[in-house]
Amino acid sequence: MSTHEVIGVDRGTLKSAPFKVLKADLLAADAVERVLDEAQPSWVVNCAAMADIDECEDNPELAGLLNTELPYRLAKACYARGVKLVHLSTDAVFDGQRDGFYAEEDIVNPNGIYALTKFKGERAVLTENPDAIVARVNFYGWSLSGRRSLAEFFYNNLTNNKSMSGFTDAIFCPMLVNDTARVLVKMLQKGLTGLYHLVGPQAMSKYQFGVEIARKFSLKESWISPRSIHTSNLSVKRSHNLSLATRKLSTDLGTPFPEFSTGLNEFFTLHQQGYPQKIRSYQQ
Ligand SMILES: NC(=O)c1ccc[n+]([C@@H]2O[C@H](COP(=O)([O-])OP(=O)(O)OC[C@H]3O[C@@H](n4cnc5c(N)ncnc54)[C@H](OP(=O)(O)O)[C@@H]3O)[C@@H](O)[C@H]2O)c1
Repeated sequence: MSTHEVIGVDRGTLKSAPFKVLKADLLAADAVERVLDEAQPSWVVNCAAMADIDECEDNPELAGLLNTELPYRLAKACYARGVKLVHLSTDAVFDGQRDGFYAEEDIVNPNGIYALTKFKGERAVLTENPDAIVARVNFYGWSLSGRRSLAEFFYNNLTNNKSMSGFTDAIFCPMLVNDTARVLVKMLQKGLTGLYHLVGPQAMSKYQFGVEIARKFSLKESWISPRSIHTSNLSVKRSHNLSLATRKLSTDLGTPFPEFSTGLNEFFTLHQQGYPQKIRSYQQ
């Protein structure tokens, strides 16, 4: 098995990570070039974004800078240096109106600022950098803040005996983020280029996902009430069916994706092993 040196880039949150971290506001002038020149990476995985849908609606200009302009700059700078780039995009470029399982060649219809700026970001990367990978992802896992992913939303409320709702008609294909990272490394090792769907192999509603979390942790699933997106008072309407077809990627990799149950088992095991506390300690 090959090993990789990891160099993180962040704005100052990671204070004691077990890998080298460069501090940078990637929107600052020349930050992209400075970071690339300092790190001299073989591969770059761009996770920086404004990924909160409501925040994007409130700050469309900043959303455009982070989700479109930054990927454009990274794509150009990586191409000029011969550095392989992976850019993360989203299932939300589709409107979710049909019965899901969108393929890479299907026509997108981004709803809202987040989806639109992310779609423009994908286009910019694919146009500027023919060697790059654009991966439309959807993942869950343990996060630095402890409240970033949908899995943590359900877990936190369930462990605090708090009631919550789960949408029965918002369908997606969740993948454990640790699996997402492992598949991304395989894609890089295989030298893939272009647009790929990288999500879990099983489509389910957000309500069902919450129930799966409750059952795995032996928590009370009755705290989760089934609800329709049509009755929600969220400012940006959530899409109905954002399940993605992943045949292109599994064919090109020659391996099937990890099952949902395997990912959920690992999510549980990581918790039992103290992984959430471990990654949170990187901030102190
Ligand atoms: N989570 C999902 O299921 C999902 C689904 C579809 C697509 N995606 C895509 O996956 C990627 C990661 O998503 P996420 O959920 O992990 O988002 P996230 O938690 O909001 O992470 C975004 C990161 O970008 C960093 N960032 C923002 N502005 C920056 C700047 N000016 N300079 C340097 N770093 C900056 C943030 O740093 P700070 O911590 O300093 O704010 C944060 O670490 C995004 O491209 C998103 O569109 C995620």
